[in-house]
Amino acid sequence: MDHTTNLILPSLLASDWSKIDVEVKRAAAAGAQWLHLDVMDGNFVDNISFGPQMVQVVRKCTADMYLDVHLMIHRPDHYLERFIKAGAQNITIHVEASYDTSVLETLKRIRAAGLHCGIALHPSTPFEAALPFVNDIDLLLVMTVVPGFGGQPFMEKETMPKLAAARDYRDAHGLKFHLEVDGGIYTHTAPIAKQHGANLFVCGTSSFGPPDMNQSMRDLAASVA
Ligand code: DX5
Ligand code: ZN
Repeated sequence: MDHTTNLILPSLLASDWSKIDVEVKRAAAAGAQWLHLDVMDGNFVDNISFGPQMVQVVRKCTADMYLDVHLMIHRPDHYLERFIKAGAQNITIHVEASYDTSVLETLKRIRAAGLHCGIALHPSTPFEAALPFVNDIDLLLVMTVVPGFGGQPFMEKETMPKLAAARDYRDAHGLKFHLEVDGGIYTHTAPIAKQHGANLFVCGTSSFGPPDMNQSMRDLAASVA
């Protein structure tokens, strides 16, 4: 799948964790090909979610969904192997996190393990912070809320110019990485993000929230078709 394909990625953060296997299957039945998993350490962000064990549980619930793991943690390089072993297929790390080694070294280790890799930018981090890594990533995640919590409003003014700058830079340089948006994505905001270059749309509240996920996924997909 290349960066011209649009995909809706349900974020498990908004699912019902008391029946995670049912939720994963509900997402698959609703047409999700990729699942987004938000790992939070209570340090890089002001919330604690789950770690590699949960990724492994989700891996057991689905053999064929692509697991997109978003690490909102410090020292992602220290924990990397555990997420690789757990069954992640893409691992995204934040440029603002602290590293025992470095962002570049960590990206190279992810790829050496046969996975895809991405970097994420906090809403206040400029696109220029991603420039040293653009040749070494499969995905650039432009956060459209301050990372840490689901259900926050889409930060259009702060993030859309950056997304467009990333798209323009990528296309001008013949690069192929995906542009992912995460936070506050609904049927009314997804088209705005698409217009500015996004092709991967992480949807928590708007996908798992409504009782009929088939319908919510259909509506979200239609909004970026
Ligand atoms: C926020 C997470 C998101 C979150 C999005 O820190 O990275 O993936 O689940 O949730 P919604 O779609 O509800 O804004
Ligand atoms: Zn996320």
